[in-house]
Amino acid sequence: MNGWKAPLAMVGARWAWSRVRRRYAPAPEPVPAYKRNLELLAWGAAGAALGVGVSALSERRRSGLMAGKVVLITGSSRGLGLQLAREFGASGARVVVCARGQQGLDRAVAELTGRGVEAHGVVCDVTDPEQIESLLDEAEEHFGRLDAVVNSAGIMRVGPQEAHTDDHFRQAMDIMFWGPFHLSRAAVDRLRDTRGVIVNITSIGAYLSVPHLLPYSTAKHAWAALSEGMAAETAGTGVRVTTVVPGLMRTGSHRGVAFSGDPEREYAWFALLAGLPLLSVSAERAARHIVRATAGRKSFLVITPAARAGLVARGIAPGLTQEAMRLVGWLLPDAPARVEERLGAEAGQSRLGRLVDTVSVLNERASKRMNQHSKPQDEQGQRTEEK
Ligand SMILES: NC(=O)c1ccc[n+]([C@@H]2O[C@H](COP(=O)([O-])OP(=O)(O)OC[C@H]3O[C@@H](n4cnc5c(N)ncnc54)[C@H](OP(=O)(O)O)[C@@H]3O)[C@@H](O)[C@H]2O)c1
Repeated sequence: MNGWKAPLAMVGARWAWSRVRRRYAPAPEPVPAYKRNLELLAWGAAGAALGVGVSALSERRRSGLMAGKVVLITGSSRGLGLQLAREFGASGARVVVCARGQQGLDRAVAELTGRGVEAHGVVCDVTDPEQIESLLDEAEEHFGRLDAVVNSAGIMRVGPQEAHTDDHFRQAMDIMFWGPFHLSRAAVDRLRDTRGVIVNITSIGAYLSVPHLLPYSTAKHAWAALSEGMAAETAGTGVRVTTVVPGLMRTGSHRGVAFSGDPEREYAWFALLAGLPLLSVSAERAARHIVRATAGRKSFLVITPAARAGLVARGIAPGLTQEAMRLVGWLLPDAPARVEERLGAEAGQSRLGRLVDTVSVLNERASKRMNQHSKPQDEQGQRTEEK
């Protein structure tokens, strides 16, 4: 429970109770204002004490959740993957972190080690099956066992379908379908001995194909299907497969996303939604849920109320949901005659981008916490500067 929530809840409850009593009970003796204020203060203090107690208890529970386990997380030099490494570390696990960029990975390992987490970094491109085998070998050799594999590596391109080339689709499939496909297939056998868990970070975009994210949604849809199928087929093997379906998370990744078509306007709608408090969740909160689901060997986890609402809507009324998506597609920027592409860090420099950034300040702050240092991508969308 957050520090301020418990005292506020206690004072609120006390105030509501006094309103109910005043309405339905016989008129009480008038109480002097200073006494009423003192009483509210006492309730606030009791709430604070309760909050501190609950936080300490959940912190204690959390610190032993994954004690002694070894967790391999792909795409963990920044964003959600890095936050997962911190959270698994805080729960007692030793972590193997992986990404393509050496510098980002070094920064992540140094930061994790500084927090007291036993971390080992391996440079690995998940699109290469040979590198995946070496990654698994190195994880087992370094820590002597393997208990969980988290597929979190991902990329995103935003823009109308006219702006997406065949290569954009291929690259999305390579990183977010074939990569986790090879890793999971190779990991299943190794996880039998430890009764391990494979955690697949898909997206609400896998279940609701959001306009202007077609390569991403296509790859995630395929990956979600495989993840659920693997979960069913690993029954009886001791291995668990957890499918995670996050809605928007404030990982600060919008600065590294490639925006195509009319980059400034694409950036504006995407960055605005990605940072809205009611629509998105902090990376810290998302990571806590994922670690608990891993430790609890859950099969399916949906993160954010909006994602849950989207899944329910699609289940109950798929046709209507599709119509709603058509409306969204109609509202989004059209493809201009001359298609351009820019990274979020650059597209966000326009007047509109800067205006959006002041509104979505939470996501801007998240990019600092999540080791997001935007670098240019080459035409394949690969981050090149760090290697
Ligand atoms: N942010 C959201 O709102 C949201 C919502 C739903 C689902 N998700 C999913 O959550 C996951 C994490 O998202 P995020 O926002 O944290 O992304 P992010 O900040 O952009 O981080 C992506 C990570 O993946 C790594 N990576 C990319 N391509 C790779 C490859 N071929 N091989 C190995 N590592 C690779 C990156 O490092 P290098 O570039 O150095 O390789 C980086 O560490 C993704 O799968 C994403 O689709 C995110």
